[in-house]
Amino acid sequence: MALLEIKNLNAGYGDLRVLRDVSMEVNEGEIVAFLGSNGAGKSTFMRTIVGLNRAWSGDVIMNGKRLTNSPSEKIIKSGIGIVPEGRRLFAGMTVTENLEMGAYCNRKDIRRRMDSIFQSFPRLYERKDHLAGDLSGGEQQMCAIGRALMSEPKILLIDEFSLGLAPTVVDSLTKVVQDINRQGVSILIVEQDVQMVLEMSSRAYVMEVGAITISGNSKDLIDNPKIKEAYLGM
Ligand SMILES: Nc1ncnc2c1ncn2[C@@H]1O[C@H](COP(=O)(O)OP(=O)(O)O)[C@@H](O)[C@H]1O
Ligand SMILES: [Mg+2]
Repeated sequence: MALLEIKNLNAGYGDLRVLRDVSMEVNEGEIVAFLGSNGAGKSTFMRTIVGLNRAWSGDVIMNGKRLTNSPSEKIIKSGIGIVPEGRRLFAGMTVTENLEMGAYCNRKDIRRRMDSIFQSFPRLYERKDHLAGDLSGGEQQMCAIGRALMSEPKILLIDEFSLGLAPTVVDSLTKVVQDINRQGVSILIVEQDVQMVLEMSSRAYVMEVGAITISGNSKDLIDNPKIKEAYLGM
């Protein structure tokens, strides 16, 4: 059984249909890449999974339970965490306070969870009393990932992982994400650096105009002529 299973998901805004019968799955322990051009519908897809955007029809199934259009709190409690595009931190709150916000569904053991996040991100510990708005882009992404981890997700959705970050920062964040994955958290990642994300994932999906058009093993997709032309600039 898949950990997260999406079946025939449709969603949009007003009259604009964005998601077109999207079906996909993420298994336990996997890193899955989710590719697509600007405006394809990737963020809409992720937000619909976590209930921030209403599904018109279809199924979001986590661990066998249908969660479509459930309140976000229930979805987070089911084990889905999200790092939204643009991070969306509370700029006027400290790093520690932002992390606490990530635990609002479960106030137990906050200290222990925060310690483990600070262990993954020592830099975040150094900055724990600073306002999120004063952090560098990389630190903000660490904080956003940390905030999502505070709910102890079984799967982490990361939308635009490396956007606006320096390559060295991306390298170190990638290592942390792989580490989190090795600790048993599945990852679904939207990323523009297609080469990088195909190297770090086991499978990938490509979304075009709201529909999945290509899917397969990442190492096969690196050699796929369509992917090479459209996303790898070859
Ligand atoms: N809040 C919104 N209201 C109306 N249209 C939106 C909204 N958010 C996104 N869209 C539209 O939905 C489509 C998909 O956008 P999005 O999911 O952000 O794509 P991606 O993340 O792949 O760049 C685009 O045409 C975009 O203009
Ligand atoms: Mg987006």
